[in-house]
Amino acid sequence: MSSIPTIKFGVPGDKITVPRIGLGTMTLTGGYGSFDIAESTAILNRAIDIGCTFWDTADSYGFGANEKLLGSVLNQRGENVFVGTKFGLLLKNPGPDFDGDFSKIFQGISGTPEYVREQVESSLESLGVDRIDLYYQHRVDPSVPIEVTVGAMAELVKEGKVRYLGLSECTADELRRAYKVHPIAAVQFEYSPWTTDIERNGVLDACRELGVTVVAYSPLGRGFLAGNIRKNEDLDKTDWRRSNPRFQQESIDNNLKLVEGLDALAKKHGKSKVQMTLAWLLTQEPNMIVIPGTRRVKYLDENSGAGNITLTDEEIRDIRQLVDSIDIKGSRY
Ligand SMILES: NC(=O)c1ccc[n+]([C@@H]2O[C@H](COP(=O)([O-])OP(=O)(O)OC[C@H]3O[C@@H](n4cnc5c(N)ncnc54)[C@H](OP(=O)(O)O)[C@@H]3O)[C@@H](O)[C@H]2O)c1
Repeated sequence: MSSIPTIKFGVPGDKITVPRIGLGTMTLTGGYGSFDIAESTAILNRAIDIGCTFWDTADSYGFGANEKLLGSVLNQRGENVFVGTKFGLLLKNPGPDFDGDFSKIFQGISGTPEYVREQVESSLESLGVDRIDLYYQHRVDPSVPIEVTVGAMAELVKEGKVRYLGLSECTADELRRAYKVHPIAAVQFEYSPWTTDIERNGVLDACRELGVTVVAYSPLGRGFLAGNIRKNEDLDKTDWRRSNPRFQQESIDNNLKLVEGLDALAKKHGKSKVQMTLAWLLTQEPNMIVIPGTRRVKYLDENSGAGNITLTDEEIRDIRQLVDSIDIKGSRY
């Protein structure tokens, strides 16, 4: 049984303890190709069994199906589960002929107060809860000042519909402006050995300054770092990654240098590559939670087990040197 390290999470005056290795549930209802709803349900139940109870979803995942799936399990045994969900990405359900091309389903971003109010009701109902633990703006709406959106989110806290507020993929300036309106508990940002932008764009510094927890999403590089993706055409026809710049063959061929480097280090130190990667990420920032995603119970167990391994200073340094030595090809989006 894994023992997952914990962290104090929240805002001044309202802190709770949550696990530092959570569960990204996005792909349990699609996104990275096919999924098996029985296995997805088993993953959620297993996550509760092993204390992997910091869950991440969004109203847009599975075009609403993801929150409902979580709701079906929370309804049975959700007492100790902490759920974060998000609003703001407008996606059109493409139906069964979807070819994985995100540009065909993306319809914009909304951060208007009306939209915030409408969406929170929908998420509360889908999740089947009275209060959402953590409510994120998924992407900042460039046409609505962040003060206005966060002002509307703050109203939800006052009304008891939401406990904590979060932002996803914001800039450092947006975070600071938002924080002046209402304390922000979490910033969700992509962070892994192949995506370290947060270290240089000011967001990590702003989080440290304000005491905001970083929630590192796609910590395994959307699965690339696990090493099973070597050809673009191996990805399912409905897999979003198939059209992502980092997963085009030229990028894959270059970026595999990082995977091979991690492989060599894992062998040298006698560790699982995936566990070593997650454990390394956790050493980069104490006020951070990682939320790896998976469609398999066995991977959930492996990922949660990363909490059991401790890296030596030499191992941490080795991985940093590797990360710094490789120029990753392909934009994130
Ligand atoms: N805020 C945002 O904009 C945003 C964007 C993206 C993601 N997220 C959140 O972050 C979560 C995680 O991100 P992600 O799913 O994109 O990427 P990830 O966690 O970096 O990687 C997930 C991929 O890694 C594979 N994998 C996981 N554990 C493995 C293991 N032990 N061995 C081998 N392969 C393994 C999974 O394979 P299988 O699927 O085959 O199990 C899946 O393809 C999402 O679920 C979502 O909640 C947020």
